[in-house]
Amino acid sequence: MRKENDRITEQKKYLIVTYGCQMNEHDSEKISWILEDMGYILADNREECDLIIYNTCAVRKTAENRVYGQLGELKELKRNKPDLIIAVCGCMMQREEVIDTITSKYGHVDIIFGTNNIHKLPQLISNYNKTKQMTIDILEENREIDESVDANRKYSYKAFVNIMYGCNNFCSYCIVPYTRGRERSREPQNIIEEIKGLASTGYKEITLLGQNVNSYGKTLNIDYSFSDLLKDINDIDGIERIRFMTSHPKDISDELINSYAELDKLCDHLHLPVQSGSNRILKLMNRGYTREEYESIIKKVKLVNPNITLTTDIIVGFPGETEEDFNDTLSLVKEVGFDSAFTFLYSVREGTPAAKMKSQIDDRIKHQRFQQLLDVLHPIGLKKNEKLLGNTLKVLVEDVSKNDKTMLDGRTTGGKLVHFSGGKELIGKIVDVKITSVKTFTLKGVLV
Ligand code: SAH
Ligand code: SF4
Ligand code: F3S
Repeated sequence: MRKENDRITEQKKYLIVTYGCQMNEHDSEKISWILEDMGYILADNREECDLIIYNTCAVRKTAENRVYGQLGELKELKRNKPDLIIAVCGCMMQREEVIDTITSKYGHVDIIFGTNNIHKLPQLISNYNKTKQMTIDILEENREIDESVDANRKYSYKAFVNIMYGCNNFCSYCIVPYTRGRERSREPQNIIEEIKGLASTGYKEITLLGQNVNSYGKTLNIDYSFSDLLKDINDIDGIERIRFMTSHPKDISDELINSYAELDKLCDHLHLPVQSGSNRILKLMNRGYTREEYESIIKKVKLVNPNITLTTDIIVGFPGETEEDFNDTLSLVKEVGFDSAFTFLYSVREGTPAAKMKSQIDDRIKHQRFQQLLDVLHPIGLKKNEKLLGNTLKVLVEDVSKNDKTMLDGRTTGGKLVHFSGGKELIGKIVDVKITSVKTFTLKGVLV
């Protein structure tokens, strides 16, 4: 619980708008917990807000531009409601250039805080209320892990759980090590406690979060690895599915690969970002593995679990990427047979080594290659889904479908989205669904 004097006395409403990855989504769940602990309640729309928070992502330029666009729109709202507090936080705020832009062009922003000091939000709000001056609090680095903040989770059956923070990999294109600081692991007993608590309130699925879960444990004083953690979580009664994000090919261990055979709760899904199929580009990216090493990991994983869903991240148009390099990516995609992939146009991030590299790729070529890549990925994904036709799969029911309220959405253990007819009382349950038709990104089925 937070300090009593942080509590607000009037009924105030808040909204959080979240961009970026699961790490940010989960941070927003924590911010929501902090605010509700202070006495805030969730607003239905922007107009009725007393506090609006933008949790931002800096991974690509487009993500940043979207935030600036939103902040521009809020000027009008603030003019009509001067008491509205506008706060911005998240990865963008760890970049000096962004702080300069906000202070000079978006003077209607009231509070700015970073990724390392979410727990200080009550103090920042109180400081702003006293001074009515733009309050900025950014912590460059935070080696301490604050265990006092809980999370107001979006779902009641699946939960994100941080196992580590930060990243030490410094892939040459990536801003994350600068926005999230150095790698640090949570103590295993804190993670286990949290998951036991979730299990006791009915949570079935846990997604363990870290930028590179394979290096979990390296900052601990004990000899305890990511595979050890998975084993311990697998033993927790009530938890039925374990997922994790994200695993890095450079230090994936055989022990982790074997977990797919040994741990019954570990989902049949591996998201393993490859980024490129060209050894030359992988080297320039500072990824720390070769194409051949990546292929060998995939081979081992398929041996251990032939039904596993394989997904990845791919960047097209990294500086200096030739047609030949790009063709290497296409051939790797065909060879591995990914179920799906997150594909990105390389985006220059000031302050990263790749931003200074010569021979940045022309936008037109980037877009062309991007389309070519999708044209290769999609039929492979469809073919993989077609293999599931007629199978009966275990599906965790997640929600009522957005477009058709008589339908439900759920996920297989491989992480595939399934639509099927059913009542909303099934939400949060694991049911059997027979797959009757498939598309590139979704499966359709009937309850059995
Ligand atoms: N820690 C995770 C990924 C975090 S960022 C990992 O290493 O797998 C998510 C994805 O965004 C990356 O995998 C990469 O494909 C993409 N990405 C990161 N920086 C980028 C940039 N500058 N331009 C385009 N895509 C980028
Ligand atoms: Fe970025 Fe690489 Fe770290 Fe992933 S592993 S967050 S891509 S630096
Ligand atoms: Fe995630 Fe974006 Fe930050 S991808 S870690 S929210 S820069």
